[in-house]
Amino acid sequence: MATDATKDMRSLLVHGNEEADPLYHTVNTPIYLSSTFQSKNFGGHEEFGYSRGGNPTRRQLESLIAELEGGRFGFAFSSGMTATAAALSVLQTGEEILVTRNVYGGTLGALSAIFARWGISFRLIDTSDLGAVRAAFRENTKAVFLETPSNPVLDVADIAAIAAIARERHALTIVDNTFLSPYLQQPLTLGADIVVESATKYLSGHSDIIAGVAAASDETLAERLRSFQILIGGIIQPFDAYILLRSIKTLSVRLDRQIENAQKVARFLKESPAVDRIRYPGLPEDPGYAVNARQAIGPGAMLSFLLNGEYDIKIFFDALDMIVSGASLGGVETLISGPIYGSHRNFSKEQLEAAGITETMVRLSIGIEDAEDIIADLRQAFEKARRRP
Ligand SMILES: Cc1ncc(COP(=O)(O)O)c(C=O)c1O
Repeated sequence: MATDATKDMRSLLVHGNEEADPLYHTVNTPIYLSSTFQSKNFGGHEEFGYSRGGNPTRRQLESLIAELEGGRFGFAFSSGMTATAAALSVLQTGEEILVTRNVYGGTLGALSAIFARWGISFRLIDTSDLGAVRAAFRENTKAVFLETPSNPVLDVADIAAIAAIARERHALTIVDNTFLSPYLQQPLTLGADIVVESATKYLSGHSDIIAGVAAASDETLAERLRSFQILIGGIIQPFDAYILLRSIKTLSVRLDRQIENAQKVARFLKESPAVDRIRYPGLPEDPGYAVNARQAIGPGAMLSFLLNGEYDIKIFFDALDMIVSGASLGGVETLISGPIYGSHRNFSKEQLEAAGITETMVRLSIGIEDAEDIIADLRQAFEKARRRP
């Protein structure tokens, strides 16, 4: 994992955007718990006035996010979904957006329950197939929303190629970078216009807060994202901004270890009779391996697999001892979930089928524990779940 690019990024994660406290020069950013600020220049410009518009702790985080994502403007929100909503809010009534067919279920939910009512339509497409992306554009297609690798199928989309296709057609490219984080992948530097992320996941890394971030380089787009923050709200609170600033310092250490573990777990699963098909962009035989290796410096630590029909999925989940069965991902603990019972509950039968999400699909977010312990837990749970004739 140690390349020159990662070395710069690793230092940036720890030292990026320091000097948060001009008064006492604290090493850590203070938590500015103030909804409002004294006016010292009546009628003139003041940096902070009211915390929905801007707060010093949030500003530190937002400029760090911009720097990490390789963009000019960063934004921090109360959830990943708010960041996604802010990004989608740049579209107008009558416009259409093309979306990765196995996108996070909440994103599909927001598109169909809210944005569609406002006249912003969407179509789910296979964004791992450039031909399908090219063919999908219509007159009113104004954006492509990519999730790469996607949740939970781990399909990989070629960000640079799709951004070039979209640009030719005067459409924007928005990328949900939740599964890799800016440590591993920087969509803006590959040509995307807006990057969003559920900071609840790897950026926070400890399953403790709900937060979201977005970044862009174009001033007009940044202005729209800023308007969303100022006029709608959904801002991150100062304490959560502090938690993120602290967690980001250890992002590379956590992810390096998580990737190392994920490689070992993926190899175990690949050989296991309990597993029909595994998806992990870190396996050279995975369909997404080559594109991911080209555009990201690592494959991340998310993987999914189909449990073989000889094994009972309920018994398997209930038998797990150390691995935590739960909805989220990206924490230091290994988390496991069945997407159709959680994150993708709001997909219709047809959408699940098109996305390749089945009842036996299992999603794993690999943590920083000892890899052998993760494997041993899976092995004993498979053993208990095997149907006896
Ligand atoms: C890929 C992806 N994007 C966005 C979200 C939404 O983020 P949040 O739960 O922080 O609102 C999630 C949550 O699971 C996710 O997995």
